[in-house]
Amino acid sequence: MTIVGAGSMARGIATRALIGGHGVRLVDHSHAKAAALAGDLREEVSGGEVQPSDAIAVEDADIVVLALPWPAGREVVAEYGTALAGSVVVDICNPVDFATFDALAVPPGTSAAEEIAAEAAPGVPVVKAFNTTFASTLRSGRVAGQPLDVLIAGDDEDAKRSVAELAATGGLRPLDVGPLRRARELEAFQFLHMAAQERLGLNWSSAVKILP
Ligand SMILES: NC(=O)c1ccc[n+]([C@@H]2O[C@H](COP(=O)([O-])OP(=O)(O)OC[C@H]3O[C@@H](n4cnc5c(N)ncnc54)[C@H](OP(=O)(O)O)[C@@H]3O)[C@@H](O)[C@H]2O)c1
Repeated sequence: MTIVGAGSMARGIATRALIGGHGVRLVDHSHAKAAALAGDLREEVSGGEVQPSDAIAVEDADIVVLALPWPAGREVVAEYGTALAGSVVVDICNPVDFATFDALAVPPGTSAAEEIAAEAAPGVPVVKAFNTTFASTLRSGRVAGQPLDVLIAGDDEDAKRSVAELAATGGLRPLDVGPLRRARELEAFQFLHMAAQERLGLNWSSAVKILP
């Protein structure tokens, strides 16, 4: 799999992927940053192999995770176009308007995931996942002794199964919450989760969990 963006979420998702035995390529507009993260992960995590790359390696990227701030993921998908054929694109972003921290930066009636899917070449499935898991919690994969829930939305069942397998092999609990339009609620809910951090004294170490 390939992760585009070598920041906090790339570190967390790559940790889970490597533990699950997946090979990981890291792409960032700073090759040095991708190389440094790959070096850290090689020291800290045993399992699959990790290496930096200068481009999305389409030939072996069964999954491409966009670990990028909104709207960079939409731009990357538009730029790569049909080169992403054969890959499942995973959008993890929370398109919060950070200028005000008072609203989402996508209009009502859509979501960042749907906007990204609209840019994707025909036949390239886009899946929303990992937007409700904070980066720091992905390092251990657990909060309060319980595995993190990874809420997954998408319109392609096989693509969702691939992302669920990635989460499950990394020790997480995948939950398919429906079609890609459910990304609207996932993004809005995580905005609430983010906005409540200070008020509730959570320090970005909380998790969203659905219990039966
Ligand atoms: N942090 C969390 O706990 C968390 C939780 C759930 C979801 N998310 C979502 O996950 C996404 C990533 O968050 P993050 O915290 O990992 O951000 P981050 O630490 O800032 O990492 C993003 C990385 O992507 C790079 N980048 C930006 N545009 C790029 C492009 N076009 N091509 C290649 N690399 C590019 C950035 O480089 P520069 O810094 O040089 O621009 C940076 O290295 C965001 O959409 C966020 O909403 C975050």
